Amino acid sequence: MPTMADVARNAGVSVATVSHVLNGTRPVLPHTRQAVLDAVEQLGYTPNGLARSLVTARTRSIGLAVSAISNPYFTEILQGVEAHALEHGYGLLIADPHDDPVHERKVVQLLHERRVDGMIVAPSARPDALVAYLARHAVPTVFLDRLIDAAPDTGASGAPGFDQVCADSAEPTALLVTHLAGLGHRRIGLVAGLPGLSTTRERITGYRHGLAAAGLPHDERLVVHGDSAADGGHRATAALLSLAAPPTALVTANNAMTIGALRALRERGLSVPGDLALCCFDDFDWADLFSPGLTAIAQPGRELGARAVQVLLDRLADPEAPARTVRLPCAFVHRTSCGCPAQPEEGTDS
Ligand code: HPA
Repeated sequence: MPTMADVARNAGVSVATVSHVLNGTRPVLPHTRQAVLDAVEQLGYTPNGLARSLVTARTRSIGLAVSAISNPYFTEILQGVEAHALEHGYGLLIADPHDDPVHERKVVQLLHERRVDGMIVAPSARPDALVAYLARHAVPTVFLDRLIDAAPDTGASGAPGFDQVCADSAEPTALLVTHLAGLGHRRIGLVAGLPGLSTTRERITGYRHGLAAAGLPHDERLVVHGDSAADGGHRATAALLSLAAPPTALVTANNAMTIGALRALRERGLSVPGDLALCCFDDFDWADLFSPGLTAIAQPGRELGARAVQVLLDRLADPEAPARTVRLPCAFVHRTSCGCPAQPEEGTDS
């Protein structure tokens, strides 16, 4: 393996000059710079990231811990994180905490032991141990998607709490409810997510606000937790349909639960929107292929991922800056599962 000293010898310059050229730490005369790059090419020199990390105490890597990586929503986030990190010269180490507080704490420690420069974490519904670990070790961290209840102080003098990046949840859910109410529905059910997640809480709040805005009473029986998963969505929808007075319209609070809800409806031979109107949180790539097309709230997945990286880079550049919570807007994608006729321009905001 050629070393930096070999490159320096070949180019007729000092090791320090090679380092400045490769790391961009100081301007180098163009012909010297070219000699170094030629030597790198000729010898096939590859910088040793481990050696560089020992000198800089930075690994130029980001730890990403998000559950349900196979969920298209998180896959989109991952794409945004990866692209933005790479653009800034950072690589990724990825772990799936499986929404389990014990596993979550373990994988985050593993990432920390690998000395990632910072982490992006979508916390579980019970993130106390995770948050305590990150705070105790002052790991630069951005919480993504799910907000932690109270961002605690990291303990260092005057140090800020944690940065957070998420999409709006309450207002878009309220919009789905008022849209259905505007179509004449009086009993609108909610298939809610996993208890303990901020997204679940906010979507329930939005549902209530939507009912209030439409002048509809709140009936607790019409809110059933589907635990953010397809099976749970199936169970919750079945429970709602078994009520003595079942809902005439349904809001599902994420993509996985929408799939479960559709299964439950098909099992009963119920059609959308004829027998039951459906609006869902999360748009999927193929939501327009369903018949009817799903009226959905589209979250800005890639943008959320990219923004989380940017917030983390800002944090690394300025550890003392006050913690921020960044919220990104969602888009209403108006199709026909709500019961509206086909839109002239399906798939655009309205
Ligand atoms: N949070 C927010 N939106 C989602 C999720 C989640 O965990 N899963 C699918 N859509």
